[in-house]
Amino acid sequence: MSQPKEAWGSKLGVIMAVAGSAVGLGNFLRFPGLVADKETGGGAFLIAYFISLLVVGLPICWAEWTLGRFGGSQGFNSSPGIFHSILRKPWGKYLGLLGFIVPVGVYFYYVVIESWCLGYAWHSFSGNLDLKGAPAFGDFFSTFTGQASDGAVFSLGSPFWFFAGVFVLNFIIIYRGLSKGIEFICNWGMPLLIIIALVLLARVMTLGTPDPTKPELSIWNGLGYMWNPTDIAKGLSNPGVWLKAASQIFFTLSVGFGVIITYASYLKPKDDVALSGLTATAANEFCEVALGGLITVPAAFAFLGASAVAGGTFALGFNVLPQVFAGMPGGHIFGGLFFTLLFIAAITSSLSMLQPGIAFLEEGLGLDRRRSVALLGLITAAGCLLVVWFSRDLKALSTVDFWIGDIGIFLQGTLLIYVFNLGLGTERGWQQLHHGADIQVPRIFRHVLRWVSPVFLTVIFSMFVLRNVAGWNLSFADAAFTPTEQILDLVGSETHPASHVARLTALFLLVFVVFSSLLIHLAGRRWSRQSR
Ligand code: TRP
Repeated sequence: MSQPKEAWGSKLGVIMAVAGSAVGLGNFLRFPGLVADKETGGGAFLIAYFISLLVVGLPICWAEWTLGRFGGSQGFNSSPGIFHSILRKPWGKYLGLLGFIVPVGVYFYYVVIESWCLGYAWHSFSGNLDLKGAPAFGDFFSTFTGQASDGAVFSLGSPFWFFAGVFVLNFIIIYRGLSKGIEFICNWGMPLLIIIALVLLARVMTLGTPDPTKPELSIWNGLGYMWNPTDIAKGLSNPGVWLKAASQIFFTLSVGFGVIITYASYLKPKDDVALSGLTATAANEFCEVALGGLITVPAAFAFLGASAVAGGTFALGFNVLPQVFAGMPGGHIFGGLFFTLLFIAAITSSLSMLQPGIAFLEEGLGLDRRRSVALLGLITAAGCLLVVWFSRDLKALSTVDFWIGDIGIFLQGTLLIYVFNLGLGTERGWQQLHHGADIQVPRIFRHVLRWVSPVFLTVIFSMFVLRNVAGWNLSFADAAFTPTEQILDLVGSETHPASHVARLTALFLLVFVVFSSLLIHLAGRRWSRQSR
């Protein structure tokens, strides 16, 4: 029984949808947070970031568009299906496992943050964020997100309803289908997002020196704080910084783990992928570096100074910036606009986390749209409830973010480049990339794809594992290093007791992995029955 075939409505629509997926909280919160946090590297991080963009982001983006369009021509739309059709080995489909797990797993917490954005937009516009004094803002954030105790969100009323509403909204849009749902929302959302961002950028760049008695706190010094590199040798000798940079590139471009491969599979065999991939990447980098990188950190610095800026991703967005808005004329409006911007950026991304799952359930288990939406709804509801319930110190959220959003993404991106080179074949893939292409990709990228990207990713990951698991001290500049916090949370150490919530969350993810492998097994039986 075959499904009615989904397709994009227009050429521009696909690019809008891919850009919508790429531009998200990663651009406006995660990126500024990583750059401002001197622990993850500061200026050194930026160097690793731009190298990763050229060596990993762009080449793997082209590889993924190519694999996706190819898989679509074979009648498959999900990573397990496409890998199955390319590799033609019984184990091939299992290499697509993370192409199902990663988007769904990131949705578990991404949609929760998305609901904070909507809640904050509401509270800004209605003046409830007009608080006095820094602690009041911290309290508001920690109450809204239930950080004081587990289960708090359920007794709070409004935060829970914001979450439930946003969760349901995503599924309503997905249920409407590719063109009427995702493409429609992105066609409207993306231009609106750019307009709002430009308004905010103009506001921030004209802030000058908000407090004349503190001339060092100016927008220009804020830009310098963000963009002038410091501690380069120390940062670049730390494999963790490279892992963070490469993961951020994957995360922000939505490249490497199942989104683009699925989106591109709905193209026609002659549609361009080379220019489309480049356009979507350029659009994302503009939003990340020029909008995300110029708005949040400089504004926060100009009002509150360096110490306020370095507190991490969430503190920056939901604690520091509301203080900044409260301190400027028309703050309700600018604050409200900022969180509306975040919400639009987030929803066009979270939709893209659902489509790969829907595609897999439809083609793997033969479910119709309604049933696959319902099943994915149940799976994600379980994961989201875990994240929402264990809200104390946002432990469950940061555990999922690390294992899925950093490690899982990194692994699947690495795997994808191997499938491209060894499964499809670099030469054949290169020709495929140029089928119907509107541009010729410089030949050097062929070598980057073949050699540089896989070696680069494999080396970074091995060094990261050696450092964290085997305890090798690879960073010559920093003698006393401790393994990554999330690893300590699971194994515990003398100074850092293991966290029960982190362990429980990891167990949940493990069950999810086993369950998904089982689904892939069933899908394989179905495909061999149909001799696909
Ligand atoms: N690129 C998005 C951002 O920058 C995040 C994102 C979209 C994503 N789709 C994804 C992350 C799928 C993981 C999996 O915010």
